[in-house]
Amino acid sequence: MARKSGLTCTATLMLLLITLKERIYCNGLTVNPPESLVITDPGHLGHLEIAWNPPDSLTNMTECSVRYQLEYYNSYRDSWAGIRTDKRTYSAQFDLMKDVRVRVYTLLNGPCTNNTMIKSTNYTELIQKPANTGVLGTEALDFTCVFHNMEYTECKWRRSEKMPANSQHELYFWHKELGQAVECPQYIKSGGVRRGCKFADESLPLFTDINFCLNGTSDEGPLRPTFTSLQIQNHVKCAATEKLHLQTGPDKLELHWEHPDGKVPGHCLEYEVEHNKEGPDGKQSSKDSLADGQTSLTLSSIDSSKRHCFRVRSKVHKYCATTSYWSDWSHPVCQPEEKEAAPEPEWDGVPVYVYIAVAIIATLVLSLCAWAMFKLKKPAQEKKVESLLTSLFAKSPLLGPTEV
Ligand SMILES: *[C@@H]1O[C@H](CO)[C@@H](O)[C@H](O)[C@H]1NC(C)=O
Ligand SMILES: *[C@@H]1O[C@H](CO)[C@@H](O)[C@H](O)[C@H]1NC(C)=O
Ligand SMILES: *[C@@H]1O[C@H](CO)[C@@H](O)[C@H](O)[C@H]1NC(C)=O
Repeated sequence: MARKSGLTCTATLMLLLITLKERIYCNGLTVNPPESLVITDPGHLGHLEIAWNPPDSLTNMTECSVRYQLEYYNSYRDSWAGIRTDKRTYSAQFDLMKDVRVRVYTLLNGPCTNNTMIKSTNYTELIQKPANTGVLGTEALDFTCVFHNMEYTECKWRRSEKMPANSQHELYFWHKELGQAVECPQYIKSGGVRRGCKFADESLPLFTDINFCLNGTSDEGPLRPTFTSLQIQNHVKCAATEKLHLQTGPDKLELHWEHPDGKVPGHCLEYEVEHNKEGPDGKQSSKDSLADGQTSLTLSSIDSSKRHCFRVRSKVHKYCATTSYWSDWSHPVCQPEEKEAAPEPEWDGVPVYVYIAVAIIATLVLSLCAWAMFKLKKPAQEKKVESLLTSLFAKSPLLGPTEV
């Protein structure tokens, strides 16, 4: 049945196409593709402006409406995208590290075509190759941005091994609210080398493409630039859940926690609860996923001969963002609690600056001691000489045994 109606449908379509073609052919109605297609780069790191003119034959067309069909290759999605417009310009986002490919057709409709829409059989096409400037192999690697708890953004990258020693990266970014590309407001450095960039609270808008370019200079020439385009609401990493409570009832355990502090709406969160059971026969681990913003978990038929530990982590779920990162795990809560009080993790967590402070104090104390010893020794030696002289020349009775 379906196949038959499909066939009839195809046949009707064919007939329609043939008659349309015939009519166009009979009326000699064809239309040329647009002319003077140009792509300009206003320096927005991938947001390019496309412009074209109507075909010469249509410049003075008043009887019919002239429109255009623009198609461009979306290299982020590996597919063609298209729009129809009556304007002669369009802006679209392109990956400047790949070919930029644009095609435009002319569409004509109105009394001049007996009110049938005609599309130019051919298109005008423009293919722009990537600039590929800069020393080969010097491009930054693994560029990622994380929108921490929706409060501030940090973008990071790795240096390629081929990067000359005295080279430094520069990060530029652009979005629709900016006239021109702007350099990173605060570089994150390690060992004097730029490894990332920090964007303070609300300095990047949500739900809009943000284009990044990482380039730079070196003794051997410019570094090869890399381009990235992303929307930061898709790169959220929540703060770790910290308010975890474990309640024990008869034969059951109830775990409660709170949404992490911050701007991530509670209904956008999904959680994962890790349950570790430690007993004489070893350790078992299981995970539960809670997708609907639920903040508690009840476990019945608990084996009380075992120690139960839980950790929670969170993530923005797919209905609020296309991608997101898992938060760090919370501190574990355990039942029974005792073992938790081990001092070892505390010691692990001693920050580096405490060690540095201790080292500085120790150095100060040591040098103070050395200085004091030196100072004490000197008068003693002087006194020795003095006493020798006095004993040689006068044998003064003023020098008592206490002073030597
Ligand atoms: C225009 O189209 C109408 C039907 O839509 C048709 O009757 C008429 O013959 C057509 N005229 C020409 C000149 O093709
Ligand atoms: C379409 O245009 C291209 C150049 O843009 C040209 O090479 C080709 O021959 C044209 N095809 C037709 C059928 O006119
Ligand atoms: C890096 O890109 C920015 C923005 O396009 C540009 O202003 C700057 O001159 C570039 N730097 C180098 C070293 O190419």
